[in-house]
Amino acid sequence: MLNIARGRGSLCYLRTGRLLQQRFATMESINMAQKKEGDISSVFSSLGRTEEVFPERFAQLKKDLWNDKLAQSWTEIVTELEVKAEEIASQGSESIPRVSYKDLRKGLTKEQVTRIKEAGIVIVTGAVPKEEALSWKKSIQEYAQANKPLVRGFPANNVQVFEFYNTVAQTEARTHPAVLDTQRCLLSLWHSSSPSAEVNLDIPISYFDRLRIRQPGDKMFTLGPHVDAGSIERWEDTTYRLTFRKILQGKWRKHDPYDVWPRLNAKQDLYHAPSQCSIFRPWQGWLSLSSTGPTQGTLQFFPALKLSTAYMILRPFFKPTPGGVWEVNLDQTNFPGSGLGTAQEFNTKTHPHMKLDKTVVSLPKVEPGDLVYWHCDGVHAVEAENTGAGDSSVMYIPAAPLTTYNAHYLRNQRNNFISGIPPPDFPGGEGESKFVGRGTVNDIKTKLGRQAYGLEPFAVTSPFMEKANTILMAA
Ligand SMILES: [Fe+2]
Repeated sequence: MLNIARGRGSLCYLRTGRLLQQRFATMESINMAQKKEGDISSVFSSLGRTEEVFPERFAQLKKDLWNDKLAQSWTEIVTELEVKAEEIASQGSESIPRVSYKDLRKGLTKEQVTRIKEAGIVIVTGAVPKEEALSWKKSIQEYAQANKPLVRGFPANNVQVFEFYNTVAQTEARTHPAVLDTQRCLLSLWHSSSPSAEVNLDIPISYFDRLRIRQPGDKMFTLGPHVDAGSIERWEDTTYRLTFRKILQGKWRKHDPYDVWPRLNAKQDLYHAPSQCSIFRPWQGWLSLSSTGPTQGTLQFFPALKLSTAYMILRPFFKPTPGGVWEVNLDQTNFPGSGLGTAQEFNTKTHPHMKLDKTVVSLPKVEPGDLVYWHCDGVHAVEAENTGAGDSSVMYIPAAPLTTYNAHYLRNQRNNFISGIPPPDFPGGEGESKFVGRGTVNDIKTKLGRQAYGLEPFAVTSPFMEKANTILMAA
């Protein structure tokens, strides 16, 4: 909730926030009010969050979702994981697909597309010139210095993950032609099984996120294996659950991770948690600001998307017996690694068949200006320590298309940007509103960039595009 007015910009947000809530009150319950203040640690147990015991209704949810065919699926998935784990462990970082930006511009080959889709991740090398990426890092460091008393982040006493959303560098990076090109290409790997779905996969929009400048030796910013975009919501929300319907029907091999239709109205944030992504964000991603290889505090990933998703969805229905045999578990309320308002987390105890200590592999070396994108159901982690001599730094820049909900979100995000306050999904407060030198609309040099920020209408090529423009321009 916005509880203070801070000048014209904030009042503008207050008005639009109310308008938005009134609009949704008649449609469905979506809460885009400002979230409580905080930092990235609020959603991860590996950063200090404590596990909770679920109420009784979650045992009933398991019983409601149970299907006898799931026992056979479980056996198949566990058997395949055994083989896949060995394969991933032997390939290591080589199991992460890489393509050059030059190749991506020419058009990905069928083989490249298959590899990317099966793994659920891709590194795009040479997207932004190295010097440009390094100049962005320098400008962020100068911004942090100029606003030192106001800077917030994690950990509080030696910030590595900054609560920065509105720097000039982030705005230039999010609207950089190579970044938008890459996003458009990766969004095109998705499709809709419903022709009437309100989405335009040709149009990437900006979704603001943080950045990290992780210093050598840092051990604080350690994120264990997890999946973004909600947790218990994957089972609890009736719409989100449709995404995984084939798995829950006992036909896990038919699960299509790249169908947008069931995800468009999914509620990924039932508990209105700070840092929980509420929009449809097919690819989480970052732009590298450093030369960083394995052991230097980089991203790790389990590169077998369908298998990890099927295992994640079926895991709550089974439990190990003292003899090591797994049996059906419909009486306990637990959903291992889930929380009410958290990320979905994994560890070697909660999800032992994944053999996470050898299958969540580190990315190979990346250079400043390289991009990494991973699927919204992909299991990923951040290395426990930066053992390198230099910083391990990224700007989080996901790829998200225009949808009805995303248009509503984009409108509020744009208004927050103008006011300098955090984007709606992130911890609230006055953010960067009193910072000197923050990004403005004048830092966006292209029409596509201004459209991605919700500052200019899109070409009307369908009734949906007209609707999206109306939403965006109404505030
Ligand atoms: Fe994540």
